[in-house]
Amino acid sequence: MAERVLVVGSGGREHALAWKLAQSPFVQQVLVAPGNAGTASCGKICNSEVSVSNHAILVQFCKDHHVGLVVVGPEVPLAAGIVDDLTAAGVPCFGPTAKAAQLEASKSFSKAFMERHGIPTARYGSFTDPQEACKFIRTAGFPALVVKASGLAAGKGVIVARDQDEACQAVMDIVKDRAFGAAGETVVVEELLEGEEVSCLCFSDGTSVSMMPPAQDHKRLRDGDLGPNTGGMGAYCPTPQVSQELLRQIKETVLQRTVDGMKREGALYVGVLYAGLMLTDQGPKVLEFNCRFGDPECQVLLPLLQSDLYEVILNTMNGKLASNAPVWQQDSSAVTVVMASAGYPGSYEKGIEITGLSKVQDMGLQVFHAGTALKEGGVVSSGGRVLTVTAISSSLETALRAANRAVADIGFPGAVYRHDIGHRAIAHLNQRKSNCCASER
Ligand code: AMP
Ligand code: GLY
Repeated sequence: MAERVLVVGSGGREHALAWKLAQSPFVQQVLVAPGNAGTASCGKICNSEVSVSNHAILVQFCKDHHVGLVVVGPEVPLAAGIVDDLTAAGVPCFGPTAKAAQLEASKSFSKAFMERHGIPTARYGSFTDPQEACKFIRTAGFPALVVKASGLAAGKGVIVARDQDEACQAVMDIVKDRAFGAAGETVVVEELLEGEEVSCLCFSDGTSVSMMPPAQDHKRLRDGDLGPNTGGMGAYCPTPQVSQELLRQIKETVLQRTVDGMKREGALYVGVLYAGLMLTDQGPKVLEFNCRFGDPECQVLLPLLQSDLYEVILNTMNGKLASNAPVWQQDSSAVTVVMASAGYPGSYEKGIEITGLSKVQDMGLQVFHAGTALKEGGVVSSGGRVLTVTAISSSLETALRAANRAVADIGFPGAVYRHDIGHRAIAHLNQRKSNCCASER
C-alpha cells in the first residue's frame, strides 16, 4: 500500500525532498510542514499546519493521518530529538538521533570526536572561559584563526579573524556578549585552512556509507566570492576538480571513519551525513559536519538521484545500504542558482510579487521554492533566500547557461543572485583543456 510521507521544513531543500519523494510509486501523498508556496498544492504534494516542535502533537497527527514516514529537512528539529521521540512512539522518522546530531549541533563535540578518531581537521581549542580562549589565541602559534560559536547558529556563528586582536574580540562577542545567543556558551578557536571547499554527503545506515556525488556551495553573497557569508547562493554537482582517488580518500578517512566512530561510541549514525571539507595541500580536512542534506546542495543532488528516494530512505533506516547502493545519473551535471531578497542576509522586505515561474518550468528547469507564500492567487516573497532554479544537462557549462538564463527570466524586482556559480569548476576545466592542448603541441 502506498504511504503518506511528511517532510519537516520550509526551504528549497524541503521542496526538493517533497518533489523527489512524490515521484515514488510507493508514496501516495507528501505533506510538508510548514512548507511554502511551492509545496502548497502540487500533484501529490500539499502543506500541513501541524506543529513540528511539539513532538506529542506531531505523533498524534501522524497516527491520525496514517503518516508512514517522517523525513526531517533542517538540523534544529534533529538536535531537539524529533527522531528519538517519533521513533519511540512508533512513527518511523528519517534522520540521526539527538545524540548523533551532536556532530552538527556541538562543534566542541565534533572537534573532540574527530581528534579521538583521527579524522583530519584543523587544529583547535575549545573554551567556555573567554580569558582562556584569548590565552590560546596568543600562544597557539597559528598564523590566522577562525572563531566559532559551538552551538547551532543558522550558519552564522563563524568569524574569520585577520589577526590575534580580532580573534580575541570575536571570542568576547560570542561568549560575553552572546552575539549568537546560547550557541556561544562554548567557543571553538581553530587554525585557518586554505584551499577549495567541497560538500561531500553520504547516506549512512549506521554501519555502511554510500557517497553522493560531490557538490560545491557558494557561501558569499556576491560574484567573485565577495560580500557577507550566507546560507548558500548556489551549488553545482558533480565537481570535476575532485578526483575519484580523492573521493575514495574522503570516504575512507572522513565519512566511514565518522560512522564507525559514532557506532563505537554508542550513537549509531543513521541518516544523511554532510562533511564540509577544505581541500588543503595536506589533503582534505573537515570544516564542519552537518547532520542533514545541505541547502542548496540538496537541490542539485536529488535531481541527479536515479533511485527512488523513498526506497533509499527505507534501505538506510533498515541497515540495508550495503546491498542497495543508490544509483546516480552519470554523465549529467546539475546547477542551482539561488534568488534572494534585496538586503539578505540582513533585513529585507517581504511580499514582493514573483512572476515568470511557469515559463521557467515550461523550459524544463525546476524551480524549488524557499521563502515564498501564496497571496491572492500569486506567489510573493516571504524570506531571505526566496527560491532556487535548477538546471540539468550533459555538461556543466550548458547547465550553467540554462540556469543563468532562466533566473534572468523570473520577474522578481530587486532580487539578488550570483552570475558566477561554478566558476571554480569552469576555471579547472579550462585549465585542463589548455594543459591538454599544450601537451598535444
Ligand atoms: P562552518 O559552519 O564551520 O562550516 O563554517 C562556515 C564557513 O566558514 C565555512 O564554509 C568556511 O568558508 C569558513 N571556515 C570555517 N572554518 C574554517 C577554517 N578552519 N579555515 C578556513 N575557513 C573556515
Ligand atoms: N549549504 C550549507 C548548508 O546547508 O549548511
